[in-house]
Amino acid sequence: MIQDKIDRYTAEIKAFATGKADELEAFRIKFLGTKGLIKNLFEEFKTVSPEEKRTFGKVLNEFKQFAEAKYQDLKEQFDSQPATESSQLDLTLPGDGMAVGSRHPLSLVRNEIVDIFKRLGFVVAEGPEIEDDWHNFSALNFPEEHPARDMQDTFFIKKGAGNDIALRTHTSSVQVRMMEAGKPPFRAIMPGRVYRNEAISARAHCFFHQVEGLYVDENVSFSDLKQTLYHFVQELYGEGTQVRFRPSYFPFTEPSAEMDVSCTICKGAGCNMCKYSGWVEILGCGMVDPNVLENCGIDSKKYTGFAFGMGIERITNLKYVIRDLRLFSENDVRFLGQFQTEVI
Ligand code: DAH
Repeated sequence: MIQDKIDRYTAEIKAFATGKADELEAFRIKFLGTKGLIKNLFEEFKTVSPEEKRTFGKVLNEFKQFAEAKYQDLKEQFDSQPATESSQLDLTLPGDGMAVGSRHPLSLVRNEIVDIFKRLGFVVAEGPEIEDDWHNFSALNFPEEHPARDMQDTFFIKKGAGNDIALRTHTSSVQVRMMEAGKPPFRAIMPGRVYRNEAISARAHCFFHQVEGLYVDENVSFSDLKQTLYHFVQELYGEGTQVRFRPSYFPFTEPSAEMDVSCTICKGAGCNMCKYSGWVEILGCGMVDPNVLENCGIDSKKYTGFAFGMGIERITNLKYVIRDLRLFSENDVRFLGQFQTEVI
């Protein structure tokens, strides 16, 4: 009888497996508990004949050890796992989704601008952010006493006789590098970060981003400039966006203009963004001054060109209505997460 039970229990214990702590505890109570089956067997054992005692004493003890070993084995599995609720883990559940980043709004808009010009055959060029006086100012026809060279605007790194080193104040410096290094025709778009010595506020920052454009070839005219920028604006802000050019002044272009577009927010009806004028300025432009071409070793009798420059923050504001420039550089994911999600 005892042997029968031992055989049955042994089979049951061998077959027992669990990943759950409460099941293991039930197992322990059933077999090893103070009122468990093994305890009962020992009680029963007391009542058998001395002969049987000799036969079963050893068997019973071995069986008890076997049951205890099995329990210890299973228990160790749990102990080697992290303590909490590990027994409750459901390994069939799907994993947590991986958070996917999003492009910075300025990168989105820069890419959009660059793509539009790429489709027109412009190549992308870049230049250094630490620039010398020649590339940032002199070659671009800035007079010696021009206020933009002043300490108030420019972060100088090193003042030297005639060749200061500074953080570039605009991406126009890349025009110079490009023209010095190659031969016309040039058709390039040049995105990058620029620096100005300004107090940081909602409306000004000590660094921001620009995209410069340059087109130099034989017979390039102001009408090419107008048509190119008109097309750009239709692509960027949609068909039907109006443009207007206002005469302006830049040392490196002659003639120079500023271009306005019909307000992208109110479509010209008048709103906060356009200060109720219906128009917003988005870029400066003009025909490359012959002095600039000559400074870069290009024959200004043979070649003409146009150039333009725009602030990416401004173009972005006109798309997303961002009222505080500081948001662009604070890296608050609540802000950054609102823009297009990167698709990997
Ligand atoms: N460099 C000018 C600025 O930072 C922008 C600019 C105006 C660039 C006219 C140009 C241009 O190439 O033709 O304000």
